[in-house]
Amino acid sequence: MTSTTSTTSPISAISTRRILTPEMVAKIEALAPRYPTRRALTLPALHIVNDALAYVPLEAVVEVAQLLGLAPAEVQDTLSFYAFFPQDKPAGRTRAWVCRSISCALRGGEQVLDHICRTAGIEPGGTTADGALTVEPAECLGACDFAPCMLAGKTLHKNLTPESAEAFVRDARARTASSS
Ligand code: FES
Repeated sequence: MTSTTSTTSPISAISTRRILTPEMVAKIEALAPRYPTRRALTLPALHIVNDALAYVPLEAVVEVAQLLGLAPAEVQDTLSFYAFFPQDKPAGRTRAWVCRSISCALRGGEQVLDHICRTAGIEPGGTTADGALTVEPAECLGACDFAPCMLAGKTLHKNLTPESAEAFVRDARARTASSS
């Protein structure tokens, strides 16, 4: 029997369509003088793409690799080391990390995570259907004094309660609805 197994990797099979905009490329290149090598630009470049698209699809990995003179697998290695960069689809307009480390766990962090997810109608790690909100569990946010807490975008939400968690979900949805 003849084997039909393909040796084409998912990365090399990707089309050459352009994901990186001139603006993204300009931002990446503007950082270059601050770094000793092009390779050292990998993580900042991934952040620039993620900031613009709310995810880093494989096509963007290939283009970042081309820009930096690296193999796509090298960029993908860096990306996959962190849990920060979604690859399948964009994260929600608001991305929230709910702490479940010890101080927050002792003060109801897991329940807050469950409550936010239940209110939003998603599982931890999921994104609401309206694209308003992605909720992810997180390790210590360095704000144990304010347990249980959550980082949403760049805003730290302190001393969360079921009521404040519900208000957070409501506000995130309202922001998305009013902008569409
Ligand atoms: S344990 Fe939650 S912020 Fe430190």
